[in-house]
Amino acid sequence: MKHKVIAGVVALLIGGLTAQTFAAEGGGKPEDAIKYRQAVFTAVRWHFGPLAAMAKGTMPYNKEEAIRHADLLAALAKMPEEGFGPGTDKGDTKAKAEIWQNQEKFKNGMMQMEKETAKLAEVARSGDLNALKAQVGVTGKNCSSCHDDFKTKQK
Ligand code: HEC
Repeated sequence: MKHKVIAGVVALLIGGLTAQTFAAEGGGKPEDAIKYRQAVFTAVRWHFGPLAAMAKGTMPYNKEEAIRHADLLAALAKMPEEGFGPGTDKGDTKAKAEIWQNQEKFKNGMMQMEKETAKLAEVARSGDLNALKAQVGVTGKNCSSCHDDFKTKQK
């Protein structure tokens, strides 16, 4: 009897884990995936903003803060892609249909964001403000070039 209860609990736990894995792979509800990627991009802007401000000189340069923001940004850059699964082209979103018509180019843009933000984290660690400015510029161009191609201005 006791064993059956334990087996039941174990089965439930495994079932729960499987469901979670599916959601993580894009099997969740499309509206949840859209909210997820928008939330990630909101966090991306939150951490990129101070780096851009330090680069422009509108915020005092602080090496430790630059490293912290750049590390979090590099981690976030790995996150949005899985929110663009099938069925997420419609709804409360600014994503253009071109994303699903030109997946290779879109994925390239995502890869570029991972690469450039990883480099930004390295550069932040060097403490070289001029190098940071240059890499903030490269990263910002990556944001706007993908937005130009794949994000509408209005909802
Ligand atoms: C490879 C493409 C791509 C790259 C690179 C990219 N974005 Fe985006 N971004 C998008 C798309 C597509 C959306 C629209 C998502 C939606 O509405 O479902 C978006 C939405 C946003 C939003 C709006 C989120 C909201 O509230 O709905 C912000 C802010 C944002 N991006 C900031 C950035 C910043 C900052 C960078 C660079 C560090 C960046 N993005 C890089 C494609 C990209």
